[in-house]
Amino acid sequence: MKGIFITVEGPDGAGKTSVINELAPLLKQQLTSPLLLTREPGGIPIAESIRRVILDPKNIEMDERTEALLYAAARRQHLVQKVIPALEDGQLVLCDRFVDSSLAYQGAGRKIGVDQVATINDFATEGLVPDLTLYLDIDSDTGLERIKRGRHASQINRLDVESSVFHQRVRHAYLRLAEENPQRIVTIDARNPIETVTKSCYNVIQNKYPNLFI
Ligand SMILES: Nc1ncnc2c1ncn2[C@@H]1O[C@H](COP(=O)(O)OP(=O)(O)O)[C@@H](O)[C@H]1O
Ligand SMILES: [Mg+2]
Repeated sequence: MKGIFITVEGPDGAGKTSVINELAPLLKQQLTSPLLLTREPGGIPIAESIRRVILDPKNIEMDERTEALLYAAARRQHLVQKVIPALEDGQLVLCDRFVDSSLAYQGAGRKIGVDQVATINDFATEGLVPDLTLYLDIDSDTGLERIKRGRHASQINRLDVESSVFHQRVRHAYLRLAEENPQRIVTIDARNPIETVTKSCYNVIQNKYPNLFI
């Protein structure tokens, strides 16, 4: 495929969404190819329906493997309908969370096992791996503190109230993935101010793909 697939990963409150919002206009000005910003379920109706099932508070019987399979199913639909066509068209695709999130949250956080979750995701993606992953690293306490500060109590979601130990398992899984995939995953210290984190992300992309920049 002609395009480049970049994912942004990290625990809740790391600043993924904030950094992508800052990064997008900078990239749009400087890139020679079109930029697609996306996140799962990415406005794909089938993937959104699946996501509604996952998040529906009525589904208290949801088994954790069912949840992992549903995330993988939504991911596949988003990939097939949106990401792959953009990559075939030569676009740079910047995606807020991807397979690594499932490995960290379902695999380690919910203790299904990273390898098991990787297996169903390999099936869903047919082995398509991002060209580059920007991992925004933050300790659990700082991440959770940011989320609490940034939201009204009524907006805190199910994952936010998971225990601090859950979030620590998630972070450790991410750190391990970064260690195991040094060619793909670049770790960025997300404790820095948003502007610094944004600049680091920009520099990583520019250094890896200088030909994409004017
Ligand atoms: N580098 C940063 N320093 C301080 N606060 C930040 C930083 N990045 C994000 N925030 C704040 O933390 C909260 C969560 O950020 P967000 O971008 O939604 O994180 P994520 O998408 O990784 O969960 C928001 O209120 C945001 O303004
Ligand atoms: Mg976000």
